[in-house]
Amino acid sequence: MSVSALDAKPAPSPVRQEFYRRLRQQNAAPLWEVLSALVTPVPKPRCVPTIWKYEDMRPLLMESGGLITASEAERRVLMLENPGIPGTSQITQSLYAGLQLVLPGEAAPTHHHAPSALRFVIESNGGFTAVDGEKTTMHPGDFIVTPSWTYHDHGNPGDAPVTWMDVLDIPLVNFLDAGFAEHHPQDTQPLTRPNGDSYIRYGANMFPVDYVPERHSTPVFSYPYARSREVLHQLYKNGPLHACHGIKMRFINPATGGPPIPAIGTFIQLLPQGFRGAPHRFTDATIFCAVEGSGRTQIGDSSFTWKQHDIFTAPSWMPVSHHADGDAVLFSASDRPLQQMLGLWREETPLRA
Ligand SMILES: [Fe+2]
Repeated sequence: MSVSALDAKPAPSPVRQEFYRRLRQQNAAPLWEVLSALVTPVPKPRCVPTIWKYEDMRPLLMESGGLITASEAERRVLMLENPGIPGTSQITQSLYAGLQLVLPGEAAPTHHHAPSALRFVIESNGGFTAVDGEKTTMHPGDFIVTPSWTYHDHGNPGDAPVTWMDVLDIPLVNFLDAGFAEHHPQDTQPLTRPNGDSYIRYGANMFPVDYVPERHSTPVFSYPYARSREVLHQLYKNGPLHACHGIKMRFINPATGGPPIPAIGTFIQLLPQGFRGAPHRFTDATIFCAVEGSGRTQIGDSSFTWKQHDIFTAPSWMPVSHHADGDAVLFSASDRPLQQMLGLWREETPLRA
């Protein structure tokens, strides 16, 4: 395919229009009319840079708590929809995200589904997620994994609301027409292992001697923030600091070194006080959630000031630069592992002048 073929777009003459009409009758169409939009020289995302301020979203989330119970809703979630692709229930082209609320005394019933999920905990004092027979207590900043087709339920025995950000690969699963879902026969699944067993068993650079991976996702259901934060702190002291990312780590499946969820990459980064990150870009549209601190992120022509719990998204291939006021921590998620598996992922760090 030549460059001229990519750029050329013949004006449809009446003769051609008549030809196209007959093609449509055969469920066919001329490639040359759409080639330049179909095979683009660079990514042309329909998603747009967007921020969801927690101070705006939290009152709406609490209002939803008075409108519907967690059990009636099954999951009481306000979806975060990218305004560039309205009505799609998507925050990026490949990912779904939402803010979920479980009020004191509530439980969200047990189900399982083909899409994989992560929970990034925002507010919790005793809330829990149970996955595959194991309960995990949720603490702010914890990153919790619900692998594909594992039964899961949520509960809040505490006295304050529990909120978190959900990210699922629903758009990918539906794109592939590979979605299944079922309810568990019991609202609350029976527990078969002690609270936090998977982290102890698989999250300490050791495995049981006869361990054989049972699935593609991580065997660790929770990545506690206390541990991630300590690592960021120590690595900042040890250096070096990346010009674009500050100190940035990717979460891994300890059994493979790959991502905890096959299609979703998850990252956490420390932007130290006064950090002025260099512009960079990457092909994986990314969801950021501010865990601590405040700052400003430039995404293309958009500039977002953010603080703790705000969520923002950067579309594919738009220049991104992060600035921090005080020490700040960002959690992020994207489809990077899938793009890497397909040999598609690209980045420019920093941007070439
Ligand atoms: Fe679910």
